[in-house]
Amino acid sequence: MVLAVLLAHQCLADRPPPRRQAPLVRTGGSWSLSSRASKPSNVNDRDKCKFCVDFAHNAIQTIGEAILEGGLTQGCEKLCSIVANKTGSQAVGLACDGLCALVGFDEFVHAFEKADVDPIYYCELLKQCPIVDNGDATITKLTVTPKSGPQGDFLIDMEYETKNGTGTGELLIYVDPVDGLPLGASFLNEPQDPGKYDAQITLHAVPQQGCEVACESFEPGVYNVTMHVCNGQCMSHHPHSKIYDKKKTNFTITGPAPTDPSRL
Ligand SMILES: *[C@@H]1O[C@H](CO)[C@@H](O)[C@H](O)[C@H]1NC(C)=O
Ligand SMILES: *[C@@H]1O[C@H](CO)[C@@H](O)[C@H](O)[C@H]1NC(C)=O
Ligand SMILES: *[C@@H]1O[C@H](CO)[C@@H](O)[C@H](O)[C@H]1NC(C)=O
Ligand SMILES: *[C@@H]1O[C@H](CO)[C@@H](O)[C@H](O)[C@H]1NC(C)=O
Repeated sequence: MVLAVLLAHQCLADRPPPRRQAPLVRTGGSWSLSSRASKPSNVNDRDKCKFCVDFAHNAIQTIGEAILEGGLTQGCEKLCSIVANKTGSQAVGLACDGLCALVGFDEFVHAFEKADVDPIYYCELLKQCPIVDNGDATITKLTVTPKSGPQGDFLIDMEYETKNGTGTGELLIYVDPVDGLPLGASFLNEPQDPGKYDAQITLHAVPQQGCEVACESFEPGVYNVTMHVCNGQCMSHHPHSKIYDKKKTNFTITGPAPTDPSRL
C-alpha cells in the first residue's frame, strides 16, 4: 500500500481564518481539511511541531535506510544527504539538516530508533511537539453532506469538545470502501486548550483520471465513515498515544456524477 504524503501549510495569523490543511497521510481519494482553529496558545511551539511532523512524515522511512547505508557514523550532514537523495527532495534534506543540527546527531538517531515509524512520537522525543497526557476529547457531532448523492464532493462535518485540552495528536478519518481499497486520511491536530472545536473534511469522491494502480472507483453503495480524535498517532502503541474518541456515520454514493453540460 502506497501512502501519499503531502506537505501541509498553516496560516499563523493572530485570529486565524478557517485553516486549510492537506492530509499528512492518505490512502485513496483526495481529501482536504478546514477547521476553525482556536488561537494558538504558543505560536512558536505549534510552528516547530508542525515543521518536525511534516518532515518526519516525509522522511521517517528513509532515515532508517540511510542509517543502514552508513549514515550512522558520519554525522548529520552525511545522513541528511542520503535522506535527501532517497526522498529526491532537497527541502526534506534541508529540514533534516536543520532538525538534526538543532537536537544533535545522537538524539536524532536515537529518537528514530525508539519511535519506529510514528512521526508524532518522534517529534515529541525530539522535544519539538508538546506532550499533554491528561487530555480528552468527545465527538459531539458527525455528519456527511450530502447523505446520499452521485460521485462528487462529500463534506464530513465534525464537532468535538475537550474538557482538559488535547495533546499533540491527529484527526484520522477512515472509510470502509465498497470496492475493498482502503480510503482514509489523517491530519495533525496540535494541542488545544479546553473548549469546543470543529473540523470539516472534504472527500472528493470521483474516480481519478489516468489512475492505473490501486484506483478508487467510488462505485455505488453505502460508505461507512469512522472519525477518530487522538492523542499522538491514532492506534500507535507508543507512549502519549490514545484514541480520545471515535464515532461512525455513513453516506451513500448513488452512481456516477451527472455529465456537466458546459463541458460538452
Ligand atoms: C546522491 O545521488 C547522486 C546521483 O544520483 C550521487 O552522485 C551522489 O553520490 C548521491 N549522494 C549521496 C550522499 O548518496
Ligand atoms: C482531566 O485532568 C484531571 C487532572 O489531571 C484528571 O484527573 C481527569 O481524569 C482528566 N479528565 C479527563 C476527561 O481525562
Ligand atoms: C457498513 O456498516 C454496516 C453496519 O452498520 C454493515 O452491514 C456494512 O457491511 C458496512 N459496509 C461496509 C462497506 O463495510
Ligand atoms: C448509516 O447511519 C445511520 C445513522 O446515521 C444508521 O441509522 C444506519 O443504520 C447506517 N447504515 C448502515 C448501512 O450502516
